[in-house]
Amino acid sequence: MRRIGTAVAALVALAAGGVAWLAAAGLAEPADAVDAPVPAAAPDAARVRGAYLARAGNCALCHTAPGEAPYAGGRAIDTPFGRVYASNLTPDAATGLGNWSADDFWRAMHHGKSRDGRLLVPAFPYVQYTRVRRADADAIFAYLRTLAPVARPNRAHALRFPYGSRAALALWRGLYFRAGTYRDDHARDGAWNRGAYLVQGLGHCGACHAPRDALGGSARDSLDGGTLAESGWHAPALGGGAATDTLTGAARLQDLVAYLSHGVSTRRAASGPMAGVVAESLQHLAPEDVQAMATYLLALPAPVRPAHPAPTASAVLDAGARLYDRHCADCHGADGRGAPPAYPPLAGNGALTLPDAANAIRLVLHGGFPPGTAGNPRPFGMPPYRLQLGDAEVAAVVSYVRNAWGNRAGLVSAAEVDRHRALSLP
Ligand code: HEC
Ligand code: HEC
Ligand code: HEC
Repeated sequence: MRRIGTAVAALVALAAGGVAWLAAAGLAEPADAVDAPVPAAAPDAARVRGAYLARAGNCALCHTAPGEAPYAGGRAIDTPFGRVYASNLTPDAATGLGNWSADDFWRAMHHGKSRDGRLLVPAFPYVQYTRVRRADADAIFAYLRTLAPVARPNRAHALRFPYGSRAALALWRGLYFRAGTYRDDHARDGAWNRGAYLVQGLGHCGACHAPRDALGGSARDSLDGGTLAESGWHAPALGGGAATDTLTGAARLQDLVAYLSHGVSTRRAASGPMAGVVAESLQHLAPEDVQAMATYLLALPAPVRPAHPAPTASAVLDAGARLYDRHCADCHGADGRGAPPAYPPLAGNGALTLPDAANAIRLVLHGGFPPGTAGNPRPFGMPPYRLQLGDAEVAAVVSYVRNAWGNRAGLVSAAEVDRHRALSLP
């Protein structure tokens, strides 16, 4: 609550001081040479390409309400500022994009504005999609036009005042949004650039993996690690290919590619919201595109992790070790080496020793499944322990696995576990 209060105060203060600057920023949007419409390629090729690119952008995930027609919108998305609803993208004339032109669609993707000029809420990740090139946006639009039209009126957002107002959105855009397509860095090779284009643009990885401030904004193209406000999942910093482990060179690239395309590798498993990203989007991408993304991530500077001394003997860790033997060792092994890809190893698993223990706590409380993918068609699950174990016990067992078998990370408190019990599921 306090955070929201502070955010409102900040908005008001900014509104007073920032408007002139903002108007200037809005006008100064550079003319973009690649913004010009691209002559249509063979229609079928464009549509197939568009379907693929829509996968890379995971458009269906947000734009499909559970159990309803794909792309017909209506799915609720909770944000710290209230609830918003994704729009109907089918070509229905009255309620969808039926009357839209490719230019209208481009304005939404590139500038975050609807056909009537309304400023779109940034839960639609146009901050990242603005990186998408015109030809790719046109291909997605061509694909969306081939869907069966579904008459389903868009639902009004339920945002707290003043977040949904045009003034607040204009202000927000002035602070955090710059339109501009991705430009190749000619000092880098083709794979790096392809990866950067996909990660920064359609993949909208920064929508979760960038730290956000109280107004929900983040630094452009940052992948320095973020926490999903509503569920408490932590999307780790991705520099250096994420979770620091002992792999190097080709083996490290291979491990990251396996994680992204199958959801499991010999080192770790994707869980929570990331399992959804792999299931709905990444597993469907061409191997060379996933490889390119991994190449780009590995080339980013690795985050600096605090060094932790070897743990001293403590009653908490002893209790954690006993709980581990009783509840966890059957799957993850007494030696913590697991049985990948069915059961991820915990020894040497960098996902476990992040400074933020949120994901391990959430998995122990609520259990989880890696995604079902071609590379791991029948994933094994982890059971939930929220009914069997109290806060102090979950804290002890998580502290233990973070410090057993050579792992080193801070201990977890019962209060931290309690905080996660109250948060929503993914
Ligand atoms: C993380 C969720 C999310 C993803 C992923 C997403 N969208 Fe959206 N999208 C939204 C929300 C929410 C809105 C409603 C914005 C508003 O009304 O202010 C929206 C609005 C739009 C609009 C504007 C529609 C209108 O009537 O003004 C278009 C066009 C659109 N999205 C296209 C796409 C495409 C194409 C993709 C994939 C490349 C995509 N979206 C992926 C959440 C998402
Ligand atoms: C909806 C939010 C969301 C989006 C979008 C998202 N991620 Fe994630 N990602 C997460 C969360 C949460 C985790 C932690 C889950 C886990 O440890 O399995 C994660 C974990 C990861 C990891 C493992 C990191 C580590 O240190 O173990 C990698 C690599 C990764 N994501 C890459 C990506 C890439 C590349 C994209 C864009 C194509 C992306 N993510 C988009 C939420 C997201
Ligand atoms: C029935 C087998 C099983 C048991 C018992 C089990 N787990 Fe798991 N565990 C799994 C599976 C499967 C996953 C992958 C889940 C996912 O990706 O969502 C996993 C994932 C994890 C992870 C995340 C690893 C990663 O790579 O992100 C942690 C931490 C973890 N388990 C800890 C524990 C602890 C602590 C216990 C005991 C309290 C336990 N597990 C009991 C099967 C098990």
